[in-house]
Amino acid sequence: MKKSLAKLCLAFAAVLLFTVPQVSQAKELSGNLEIFSWWAGDEGPALQALIKKYKEQNPNVNVIDATVTGGSGVNAKAVLKTRMLGNEPPDSFQVHSGQELIGTWVKADRMEDLTFLFKEQGWMDAFPKGLIKLIGTDKGIWSVPVTIHRSNVLWYVPANLKKWGVAAPKTWAEFLTIAPKLEKEGVVPLALAENWTVNHLWESVALASLGAEKWDALWAGKLRFDSPDVVKAWELFGKILKYTNHDASSLSWQQATDMVITGRAAFNIMGDWAAGYMSTTKKMVPGKDFGWEPSPDTAGEFMFLSDSFGLPKGAPDRDNAIAWLKIIGSKEGSDAFNPLKGSISPRMDSDLSKYNSYLQSAAADFKKDVVVGSLAHGVAANETFMGGFSRIMEMFLKTHNAQAVSKACQQLADKAKIGK
Ligand code: GAL
Repeated sequence: MKKSLAKLCLAFAAVLLFTVPQVSQAKELSGNLEIFSWWAGDEGPALQALIKKYKEQNPNVNVIDATVTGGSGVNAKAVLKTRMLGNEPPDSFQVHSGQELIGTWVKADRMEDLTFLFKEQGWMDAFPKGLIKLIGTDKGIWSVPVTIHRSNVLWYVPANLKKWGVAAPKTWAEFLTIAPKLEKEGVVPLALAENWTVNHLWESVALASLGAEKWDALWAGKLRFDSPDVVKAWELFGKILKYTNHDASSLSWQQATDMVITGRAAFNIMGDWAAGYMSTTKKMVPGKDFGWEPSPDTAGEFMFLSDSFGLPKGAPDRDNAIAWLKIIGSKEGSDAFNPLKGSISPRMDSDLSKYNSYLQSAAADFKKDVVVGSLAHGVAANETFMGGFSRIMEMFLKTHNAQAVSKACQQLADKAKIGK
């Protein structure tokens, strides 16, 4: 009886083997796949891991990894805009979940609806509802999320703090007390880099000063940018800027992180791609070689952002792009990418044993903290607002006039239809 059952099983397996083609063979994809992002150089290893997975399944596709260097996409976004307006879209491009996607590319009717893929791949239940809402409208779902990054993190090297006799500040008041002491030691209190990192610092300070509820109210159009609350946030920001390095505008975010690693600076506020840089590129051990805290006065608050990839209308290699999106959204792809990148997976079933201690702590915080959206990385506002905000920031760096920039921000918010 047992023998005949075994024979039957063997026969069945043989039939399956010869008649059912494997998924990758069934598609027989070939030609090119051009993916566009700013994950070059130090930011490249995680993307390479995803491309490797894609190539395993689609060996005949030639992947063109079109990267334009520059943190937070400062250069890539400009190149992308030119290509999209010239009707030369890549097959798939990196875009932040939230207003950068919806208020820019979806509004301009440049993206394909991916609802069919979400249904087919079971992603409606794999990604948090709140995130799907952020990449969706009543007309569709417009990208596939690949990361959850945290923006409000303070980084430091524990051994250096010990040497200087200071602790990581939990509040900005504490920071402003220890900063002069650090300066006396010849240490830059807070490392800063090129202009977008100034916007990045601003959002952590504004969140600290306003609190999560008012931060959300600002982007919902319910709190004015020229209100006393927001003026106060700019004033605090001005005080903090005094303790940053003078060569900031000529440094990349990695170089600002290097300042902390080498002991030229005590702290840096940066998204947790800095954890990716320190652990993947610099081989530093989280908790030992580098430490972290929520940026001052933001404990219990998780300012998040999410990188995603979309399918532009007119993508030259649409089928290859869809296969790419499937890899990005898969548990396997996500868990190969995020541990190297310094981000957590947007999937709710991610395998946390693959992640280091910093990322495990980020995953725990993401579950229990109050989650708010980043401005500097596309969640809170569209590209019109962001472009104008960068110019206003330059004005602030020259004048330190909190009243004037607050007024300018309100005018910009009206123009960019924030909260409308
Ligand atoms: C962010 C992006 C991150 C990381 C960072 C630095 O905008 O979401 O994934 O690449 O810029 O370039």
